[in-house]
Amino acid sequence: MSILSDDIAHVWHPFTQHQTADDPIEIVRAEGVLLYDVKGKSYIDANSSWWVNVHGHGHPHIAEAINDQFKTLDHVVFAGVTHPKAVELATRITAKLPEQLSKVFFSDNGSTAIEIALKMAFQYFHNIGETRRKVVAMQGSYHGDTFGAMSVGQRGYFNKPFEPFFFDADYIDFPNESNEQEVLQQAKSYLEGQEVAVLIVEPLVQGAAGMRMYSVTFLEELTKLAHDFGTLVIFDEVMTGFGRTGKLFAGDFCSEKPDFVALSKGLTAGVMALGLTVASDKVYQAFMSDDASKALLHGHSFTANPIACAVACANLDLFEQDSTWEKIKKIEAWGEFFLEKLKSCDNVCNLRRQGTITAFEVDTGEGNTYFSDVKKLAYDFFLKRGILLRPLGNVIFINPPYTIKEGEYDEITAAVLEFLDSIKN
Ligand SMILES: Cc1ncc(COP(=O)(O)O)c(C=O)c1O
Repeated sequence: MSILSDDIAHVWHPFTQHQTADDPIEIVRAEGVLLYDVKGKSYIDANSSWWVNVHGHGHPHIAEAINDQFKTLDHVVFAGVTHPKAVELATRITAKLPEQLSKVFFSDNGSTAIEIALKMAFQYFHNIGETRRKVVAMQGSYHGDTFGAMSVGQRGYFNKPFEPFFFDADYIDFPNESNEQEVLQQAKSYLEGQEVAVLIVEPLVQGAAGMRMYSVTFLEELTKLAHDFGTLVIFDEVMTGFGRTGKLFAGDFCSEKPDFVALSKGLTAGVMALGLTVASDKVYQAFMSDDASKALLHGHSFTANPIACAVACANLDLFEQDSTWEKIKKIEAWGEFFLEKLKSCDNVCNLRRQGTITAFEVDTGEGNTYFSDVKKLAYDFFLKRGILLRPLGNVIFINPPYTIKEGEYDEITAAVLEFLDSIKN
């Protein structure tokens, strides 16, 4: 039975202009990489349900973790209380991160993980009695939709009404093959006054900006530069974490390590709402005091929800299996093969891949823009072919669950090539 009229009556969807939007697709079930609508039609989840799902839907190991944890301990306040799954997760995740990142703060999503990293960075300088109030971020960045996260993200169309309420940030240009040294100089000019508390970046891949990719060398040099001027560094790994870039974390490619890592999305295999802010011991020590107000006075009702933590631990089990990394390697190879095929299409440009993310732009002559007509045209085209793939403007990208089979991946790439052919003049 359709739920559409009740949806229209009562639901306000994210990023949706309800006056002009098409009716939402009624998804009632999911299994593996397939989503099923109310009429039984299947769709390949080509972008992993907003980039979160890493092991396919309904994975039995995740299901078992949810079930067991629900029967054992469903939820408990996390101030003044601890529980085994939070401690297990904190212990296991810090073991996979650089040694100095040893303290885990729990929240509910990517935006809150960022919000907390920013608050920790600002309070760090407050607590040590140093005045640093500035932030350096990167043009095109997206760190979430809460106020702090918006303040350090790309300004403009998506957040205009809120801009008067943002705190200031200085933005470095997006680095490309030809401007890296200039962008580092630009960063230096912001950092050298030693007033910058924190630098925040999406390491190696900017997601929402259109899966834009930059070099490991640049990330290393930028991070090092920030540290040279006493600035703390946040790696926002909300999208890049959990195998997306080909390693567990994008930061694993980089020899210079950040002071904070923000995690969400793939953290729970895309199944439960959970965010983690992992901070260095140096930062943590600045909150130790006889003065209670020097503590991080922040928390959420669902902080360290035991079911979410159990799912994150089960997710780590899967990442500890060779078979997951074998699947990731296969997707990388399929992506590379697809890019080779795309090279013979004359209406594409900026072909790129990092790990399991394969992206390119449809060359419309308008450059890379979120407001391209290609977005809706392509989205509708793929839906008809049973593929749920949401382009970012004229950027078409594939970042599927790692359990996708070769035949399913081929179905996506065949549909993309067909689409490109259909829009040729
Ligand atoms: C890099 C990055 N940071 C933060 C966020 C915000 O995460 P959430 O949507 O869970 O609040 C996102 C979401 O897409 C993201 O891609």
